[in-house]
Amino acid sequence: MTYRAFHPPLRTLMGPGPSDVPPQILEALGRPTIGHLDPRFIDLMDEVKTLLQYVMQTGNALTMPISAPGSAGMEACFVNLVEPGDTVIVCQNGVFGGRMKENVERCGATPVMVQDAWGSAVDPQKLEDALVGHPEASLVAFVHAETSTGAQSDVRTLVELAHRHDCLTIVDAVTSLAGSPLKVDEWEIDAVYSGTQKCLSCVPGISPVSFSDRAQHKIGNRPHKVQSWFLDMNLVMGYWGKGARRAYHHTAPVNAMYALHEALRMVHEEGLENAWARHRHNHEALKAGLEAMGLTFIVDEAHRLPQLNAVAIPEGVDDATVRTRLLQEHHIEIGAGLGELAGKVWRIGLMGYGSRIENVTHCLGALDAVLANLGAPVNSGAALPAAEKVLAA
Ligand SMILES: Cc1ncc(COP(=O)(O)O)c(C=O)c1O
Repeated sequence: MTYRAFHPPLRTLMGPGPSDVPPQILEALGRPTIGHLDPRFIDLMDEVKTLLQYVMQTGNALTMPISAPGSAGMEACFVNLVEPGDTVIVCQNGVFGGRMKENVERCGATPVMVQDAWGSAVDPQKLEDALVGHPEASLVAFVHAETSTGAQSDVRTLVELAHRHDCLTIVDAVTSLAGSPLKVDEWEIDAVYSGTQKCLSCVPGISPVSFSDRAQHKIGNRPHKVQSWFLDMNLVMGYWGKGARRAYHHTAPVNAMYALHEALRMVHEEGLENAWARHRHNHEALKAGLEAMGLTFIVDEAHRLPQLNAVAIPEGVDDATVRTRLLQEHHIEIGAGLGELAGKVWRIGLMGYGSRIENVTHCLGALDAVLANLGAPVNSGAALPAAEKVLAA
């Protein structure tokens, strides 16, 4: 038996992540591996931390990349801040709030669920009612940008409410980071996690996290040991903390850190506000095209994420047929619906490097061609002119 080297096909990734990784990041990934305690690597770690503080808009000293995907960042926040017997309010408006609930239960704590319809933002009034009804709660957790629906919630308001009731906050910013405003210090978030594979357009498998001083104080004064050795921030800090006396904790994914450094450097070079504006502009063009075609968004305009566009699948159109043809004939990946939205929506991502004019027009043209060919009830030919009008403005 011989095995051939794996050469992936060239795709345009326009789903819910991973997003397309630009050539300069792939080039950084391929640079020679050095030791994870090499002084030059330690210098790189310091820059990665500083750049992460910039993209997260925070001065938190405990800001670092976890050497594992977004799910590990989520778990890191929960296992460090939740203790057995705690009550945690979890706001759920899509798939990922459900995972937060799982995390709370696995920490031996009690989740109190605040439910909102999938496609809606988290309702602050419902959170306030839960806080009043559960004065024993010590923590509030919610998703900023629900990748399963394309809805964003008002972090500042939700955090303010939680603090008024003496609760710390955990915010999932996997899809929001670098794609739309996320201001960790200004909004006074206590713990936040993200992922590298969305609007940073880095390789998947790393999860930036940041903890406020209040959160760090709680972690440092826990009566119970954090049940996860790998994700115990008290231990991870010995490796990622300040100064040259870094102790071995785990072997960092050295080359992936080169890639993350390059991804963060690119955001810094573009400017965070410019990156947010680019995501917004390209979303407006895509939206104009999709709506001209006759497709409708499932999230109301005020709460729509520019980087994740969820549209209803037209009546009588088979979800999988369209996605398969887009992939096989046009090399474009778009996302299917998740959970209760499976088979009902398509999720079109314009994330990071993928948020480009040519991706907007490529996707609209291909979708129009496939839908028209299938006899779907769309206004064929209307999408591209509508998008171009926005792009030219
Ligand atoms: C909102 C949200 N949270 C958490 C995750 C989990 O991240 P990962 O797949 O990198 O583990 C995702 C992944 O898509 C996500 O969209």
